[in-house]
Amino acid sequence: VDIVLSGESVKRNKPNGDIYRLAMIKLGVGEDEAIVFEDSKGGIAAAKDSGAKCVALATTIDSESAFCSGADGVVSTLGAIPQFSSLEECSSFFSSLFDPYGGRVRYGAVMINPLERRIPLERALSTAEREAWKAYESAYAPYSSFKVGAAVISASSGRIYSGCNVENSSYGATICAERNAITNAITSEGRIGIDAIVVVSDDDPPAPPCAICRQVLSEFSKEDTIVILVSKSGKRVRLQFKDILPYPFVFPSMRKR
Ligand code: THU
Repeated sequence: VDIVLSGESVKRNKPNGDIYRLAMIKLGVGEDEAIVFEDSKGGIAAAKDSGAKCVALATTIDSESAFCSGADGVVSTLGAIPQFSSLEECSSFFSSLFDPYGGRVRYGAVMINPLERRIPLERALSTAEREAWKAYESAYAPYSSFKVGAAVISASSGRIYSGCNVENSSYGATICAERNAITNAITSEGRIGIDAIVVVSDDDPPAPPCAICRQVLSEFSKEDTIVILVSKSGKRVRLQFKDILPYPFVFPSMRKR
């Protein structure tokens, strides 16, 4: 043990971060090198106030409230921290504790490694709209004559997949353009996160995805997934997924941290 400090060492006590700031000064380490272990909400607040990373011990506080109070990681007890034999071991333990998904992002029910975007999103969106109009031309809609085209942009590849509506003699067997675009994307990539979907039709105002398609979209979308609806007359509506389906259903085991 190099230094020992207590509540009397500082004027301002927790949740103020002074005690940890003083500890860092005494140890000669920066806030980006310091990890504070805490077992209370006030302590976590003090750690975060000091700028250090904070590991909460789920002994006197449950992990849900530890994360809510700002903890960067949670361990059951101090005993869960292994004895490290090198600095590399130590830093790899803590990086995976602080980022258990390694940069992955949740899209509905799937975790995706999003692409560092090289093509600006706005350009990808206009390409997606062109692809959606191409798909629209292929629509098989002999019963309704209502043609729909859709295109989705995959978060992990940046690729664009399109689809059109495919109707059926047994009307209920019809598949919408949006779901066909999604199944095309999955056929190529196995699993997808959707950054944007463009839906085009003759309708005015522009037709939104039906409720079944919204549920299917929710499997692969984030709240801020972009939804663009376009009519042949050129009207454009831009929304976010959360606007067209707030409070989506995702299977419980698929939404756990
Ligand atoms: N349709 C879509 O393709 N997407 C929607 O979200 C709404 C409806 C299609 C299905 C059917 O072929 C036609 O529009 C009329 O319902």
